[in-house]
Amino acid sequence: MERLQKVIAQSGITSRRKAEQLMEEGKVFVNGKKVTELGTKVDSNKDEIVVNGIPIDKEEPVYFLLYKPTGVISSVNDDRGRKVVTDFIPTDKRIFPIGRLDYDTSGLLLLTNDGDFANKLMHPKSKVYKTYIAKVEGMPLRETIKKLEKGIQLEDGKTAPAKVKVSRSDKSKNSSIIEISIHEGRNRQVRRMFDAIGHPVIKLKRETYGFLGLKGLNAGEFRELKPHEVKQLRELVVT
Ligand code: URA
Repeated sequence: MERLQKVIAQSGITSRRKAEQLMEEGKVFVNGKKVTELGTKVDSNKDEIVVNGIPIDKEEPVYFLLYKPTGVISSVNDDRGRKVVTDFIPTDKRIFPIGRLDYDTSGLLLLTNDGDFANKLMHPKSKVYKTYIAKVEGMPLRETIKKLEKGIQLEDGKTAPAKVKVSRSDKSKNSSIIEISIHEGRNRQVRRMFDAIGHPVIKLKRETYGFLGLKGLNAGEFRELKPHEVKQLRELVVT
């Protein structure tokens, strides 16, 4: 038996907090009876749960790790018919990406049908570090890199301190390869951070997500997460 709001959130239709709100508003029915009590427990395999008049599907939760190629949208569909990340994973489950990578960014992307899990992982409080390899224009000075490490002012606020390592600087090509780890997930954050220090990103790849990496995968390939990896991810998040 599990808490009703958790089961609703796991179906992917909304967050746990919104599910609680819907319950309080009298929009949730279990086996035909209105349920407003937030502590109510249900058996997701047996009980019929209806939210806003629509029965929720009881899908088994699934968790995938995709090596997203560039030129792909981090979404489940695109009105302009471009390739989307779910095109790479043959499943009949209603999966969606956990967060997003830009169209022109490659690398590690997690996908699931477990809305509750996704919401928790993406919550700013969870502070899951992601490492990116950025090829940037020019050769940033040590004191410029320090600005990223300390946190830099962007138009949507100061960034949290980043871990930064310059792996290579190529004078003849006037570019550098930089490894940067951040736990925030703002829109185009890494690109905007490098823009802010005057070294625009030429190429960007997400190499790790928490303890997960891309080992053994080529661009466009995916694998299912192992149960112990899902468990470990759950331990990373703040509930
Ligand atoms: N930061 C970016 O700028 N782009 C991404 O895709 C991810 C992080």
